[in-house]
Amino acid sequence: MQHIFEHGTNGRTLLLLHSTGGTERDLIGLAKEIDADANILSVRGNVLENGMPRFFRRVAEGVFDMEDLLFRTKELDDFVQQAAVDYQFDRNQVIAIGYSNGANIAGSLLFHHENALRAAILHHPMVPNRDAKIPNLANVDVWIGAGTNDFMCPPQESEQLEQMLQAHGAKVETAWFNQGHQLTMPEVQAAKAWYTGIFK
Ligand code: MLT
Repeated sequence: MQHIFEHGTNGRTLLLLHSTGGTERDLIGLAKEIDADANILSVRGNVLENGMPRFFRRVAEGVFDMEDLLFRTKELDDFVQQAAVDYQFDRNQVIAIGYSNGANIAGSLLFHHENALRAAILHHPMVPNRDAKIPNLANVDVWIGAGTNDFMCPPQESEQLEQMLQAHGAKVETAWFNQGHQLTMPEVQAAKAWYTGIFK
């Protein structure tokens, strides 16, 4: 997969997953804000929708092509596995940061691949799959950033995602912002405060 890797010093790796129409460059600045000392593995989605990169196909806005979602989630998991060998980082210390479509593939990694992620920061995610056999997430920390007026990702999606993750043992914190689908600086700062509390 097309990607950027930057070496850090603290042994953690931030897996950056952009939103629809984005690239692997989009979230680099945000990652430095969250943890300037971590490795960065920033990936471009392999699917194109009218020329816009995405991490998996969708049938309509908010309606996912489930077969492609499962295929692309495994593809990403395999890619991270191989990247850990190639760049020599700890596969057990990977923290995803995803926005919108990127948050949804990160959620899909959690739902379908045990030990895929140590933690995840999900900006405006949805429930990736209501029929998944979700693995044990007892050692996983998740932060969800959600907008009270997010028409792309209605509040009940974030609430249900939180409940499904918690039901399988994940520690989840959801922060609500009086905004829509956009990713704002106060939201990034709130994610940073949560992250710093966990990885002191
Ligand atoms: C998705 O398809 O992942 C969601 O609708 C969010 C988006 O990318 O617009």
